[in-house]
Amino acid sequence: MAQRCYIVGNWKMNGMRSDLSEARAIDRASSRLPKVEVALAPPSTLILAMRDAVNHIGVGAQNCHAADKGAHTGDVSANMLREAGADFVIVGHSERRADHGETNEDVKAKAESAQAIDMGVILCVGESEAERDSGEAEEIVARQLAASLPDSCARLSVAYEPIWAIGTGRVPSVQDVGTMHKWLRAVLVDRYGEDGREVRILYGGSVKGENAAELLAAPEVGGALVGGASLSADGFVPIIVAAS
Ligand code: G3P
Repeated sequence: MAQRCYIVGNWKMNGMRSDLSEARAIDRASSRLPKVEVALAPPSTLILAMRDAVNHIGVGAQNCHAADKGAHTGDVSANMLREAGADFVIVGHSERRADHGETNEDVKAKAESAQAIDMGVILCVGESEAERDSGEAEEIVARQLAASLPDSCARLSVAYEPIWAIGTGRVPSVQDVGTMHKWLRAVLVDRYGEDGREVRILYGGSVKGENAAELLAAPEVGGALVGGASLSADGFVPIIVAAS
């Protein structure tokens, strides 16, 4: 059965209780667009309140620790996030790889800790501008993905986010997105066999209402991971509409 297009908003370190009105408006619009699977990943502090505020969309987390519990000051485990109401967790975002030195091995362990309790996982990969300019972006990102993948593809999605496109208003050509996604599909099929064809590969990086339809139409694009434009219903709903 064909999977629904998956449109996920990553609120990053944005969002107070007063912003739940935006989540409610996104939730209402999503209820009228059932062909699209919609989710938001607010900061951990807002997961519980957002879960209570919405009825139709998924709610997820932006990171987890790989361990269940223990002496890890300031960290939160996947099972804690699930208890707070998260259905899924984003792992390996480039901002976490850069700001917190997360390695491919860390990302794999985090993904497996979430899968072990049946949470969804969105695993992010993407190249820097220098890597894109080297002409070897596909090989580099394919290697990054292969080294970050969990042992199972249960409830797994992958997000391709070129670092140079995040928050910059710059996007790769639709052709480049399609080429990269085909490479990533090959990695998934190589690792998981036919099950690897079921893993949705999202595109992320300056997705807006204006460019969503053409990016989502590129080969092997199963949805979008959206930052800035997901913070308001005005920004996010047109992307969901474009996906419907
Ligand atoms: O995870 C989403 C992201 O990094 C893209 O952010 O603001 O370019 O849509 P943005």
